[in-house]
Amino acid sequence: MSRLLVVSNRVNVPRKRQKPQAGGMAVALAGALAECGGIWFGWNGRVVEAEAMPESPEFTEVDGIGYATTPLTAMEHERYYAGFANSVLWPLCHFMPGRMQYRREDRAGYAAVNQRFARQIAPLLGGDELIWVHDYHLAPLAAELRALGVQQPIGFFLHIPFPSFGLLRAMPDWRQWLETLAHFDLITLQTPEDRRALETALVYGLGGRVVDDGIRLHDRTVRTAARPVGVEVDQLAATAAETAHSRRVQRLVSSLGQRELMIGVERLDYSKGLPNRFDAYEHLLETRRQRHGRTVFMQIASPSREDIDAYARLQETLESKAGHINGRYADFDWVPVRYLHKTFARGSLLGFYRTARVGLVTPLRDGMNLVAKEFVAAQDPEDPGVLVLSELAGAAAELDAAIQVNPNDIEGMAEAMEEALSMPLNERRDRWRSQITVLRANSLDQWWRGCLRDLEVTRPAP
Ligand code: UDP
Ligand code: G6P
Repeated sequence: MSRLLVVSNRVNVPRKRQKPQAGGMAVALAGALAECGGIWFGWNGRVVEAEAMPESPEFTEVDGIGYATTPLTAMEHERYYAGFANSVLWPLCHFMPGRMQYRREDRAGYAAVNQRFARQIAPLLGGDELIWVHDYHLAPLAAELRALGVQQPIGFFLHIPFPSFGLLRAMPDWRQWLETLAHFDLITLQTPEDRRALETALVYGLGGRVVDDGIRLHDRTVRTAARPVGVEVDQLAATAAETAHSRRVQRLVSSLGQRELMIGVERLDYSKGLPNRFDAYEHLLETRRQRHGRTVFMQIASPSREDIDAYARLQETLESKAGHINGRYADFDWVPVRYLHKTFARGSLLGFYRTARVGLVTPLRDGMNLVAKEFVAAQDPEDPGVLVLSELAGAAAELDAAIQVNPNDIEGMAEAMEEALSMPLNERRDRWRSQITVLRANSLDQWWRGCLRDLEVTRPAP
């Protein structure tokens, strides 16, 4: 397999005693780099004044993988990251155009950072590696690299949904954004639905023509593919079984007593549908008295993008909903909601999942949702918990044996919670077996190998 140059917005250089980091993408890419070798380029998470911006990226090598990282200036962070990427593309791609906050200076800042990244990446290239770019922050990167004369195959993986053509046009300047995206040799999406949406936009928006392996546009072919990100099933299962005996997980178990645990874990993000989930739990308690004192809902909401208003407001909403439910229903020996605004290491989470009777994954829209898959992988095969999954998560296409819900149907979600809590063991086992079979058939390893094989094919014959 060729050496790789991976580019993603955020890069966490592994360090001992590192604070746990959330984010599915980081977990998924480490395997590919570990085997192929190569360099991972991106933002190191730091923000500096413009004068303190180093000329070239900082280079660190850990276990044979090179990490080339750069800070962002305060203005880049505001315009490129918080602005165009996370206040325009993120809401748009999650089907919430009403949340978009478009400013021309953010659009320009987004273009400028992509240009700067390309200038810093070009000197890192040897000549024959594959360049694999990730996520919505970096859609213009192939166009910028080509402008600098870079010849290698350049692939793009979009971890979030691709908007329908009608929705895409809600974004001012959509045509130019799409034109630059079309400079990649290969664009891989999470689901066939996302792939169709991209192809439709390329055809109706830019005048492309459908061919066997993608879209013919301006005398070149943009290949497209759908490859859902998987999880490392056996490794997760082993960690879950091991951490189930850890002190931390045992403390959770003893704090629950005989009560059943429903768990939700996500970054505190409005796409994850948390207010609806809280409302559904309240509806469950309103309509099923038998659940009082017998069920605990634990929501882990890890801090995310806190300098963006919409995220700060969501935190207030959830604190108030948790307080309201507890104020209304708590008793001297039972607190119905445990709301934890903090990040946990993945190992602990796996132990928590194994302890839970129900996993609640109910986003309003999600590219894939790795938590759903991790929850399934972490279960005890003899006594598995039940996944309640939004039909609007990419993972729903594979996990059809979960209880699927529409997150906009509060009563329906409350019914699904009740169904999950009272599901007999036989049915829990049957559903779990069917889900774990799907996950095994599409492992994380197969995902990145498949993506890179597709990209290798785009290399012109010598
Ligand atoms: N995660 C974590 N600690 C937390 C919360 C989440 O390690 O406190 C991990 C979680 O295990 C998963 C990833 O972050 O691997 C989240 O990926 P997902 O696709 O579910 O959502 P995203 O955050 O990418 O939108
Ligand atoms: C999602 C996105 C990633 C992003 C992650 C964490 O998984 O697809 O690109 O890195 O969320 O968000 P953050 O803004 O903290 O990088």
